[in-house]
Amino acid sequence: MKILFLGDVVAKSGREAVIRNIKPLKSEYGADFVIVNGENAAHGKGITATFYSRLVSAGADVVTLGNHAYSKSEIIKSVDLCPSLVFPGNLRSSDGGRGYVIKDVYGVKIAVVSLICEAFMCDVENNPVKAMEQLLGKIRADQIIVDLHGESTAEKMIFARYFADRVSAVVGTHTHVQTADERIISGCAFITDVGMCGSYDSVLGRDAEESVRRFVHKEQTRYTPATGPAILCGCLIETDNRTGRAVRIERIQRRPSGSY
Ligand code: FE2
Repeated sequence: MKILFLGDVVAKSGREAVIRNIKPLKSEYGADFVIVNGENAAHGKGITATFYSRLVSAGADVVTLGNHAYSKSEIIKSVDLCPSLVFPGNLRSSDGGRGYVIKDVYGVKIAVVSLICEAFMCDVENNPVKAMEQLLGKIRADQIIVDLHGESTAEKMIFARYFADRVSAVVGTHTHVQTADERIISGCAFITDVGMCGSYDSVLGRDAEESVRRFVHKEQTRYTPATGPAILCGCLIETDNRTGRAVRIERIQRRPSGSY
């Protein structure tokens, strides 16, 4: 099974790039299944049912979220309209959502789990390790792919080490900066952070000048997403359908043409 995972889609720049590129990337890598983290899809924070639908129409099989899952509160009323949207299972406000979905892909049941890390993150109700143990008691699938959304590199690595024998992949998200540490740990594909799909000329997808004004000059600014061409970040995970174990992970990074 070849699984294409695209990192955090940030605002219009990221959305348009992902919508334009899912099918070409799927075909280039021969991917059978596509997971997209859409937690920043709507103006940099949260997602709406409309943007979820556009990602699915473009080829995403599952859309995962993160700490901004409920930033656009209207999504709570639209949960039933978004059957392939995965809310983090251990967010305090996760009543309306779901911590995982299971998809049948050519007879193979793939579970996609979303969890939030504990370190430097807000509104975490349950430690992700405890939450994962509970989910493993419920999930009946051949392969389990975890989107682990968090700030701390060590926490994501520790989680992957701990669950490596029981899940097929742990893909880190949230920092928007891709790490070059993809590897296979005991049959589990792992990358600390897969990176973002959003404006390349930005600070993590946010307008760069505004970020400087806020951080350096302490100006009270609203969040303005950056515009311009996007960087596309993701990874391709290959699993063995007989064993459910990962055999390969390849990092994907496409910068806008002419950029350095
Ligand atoms: Fe996040």
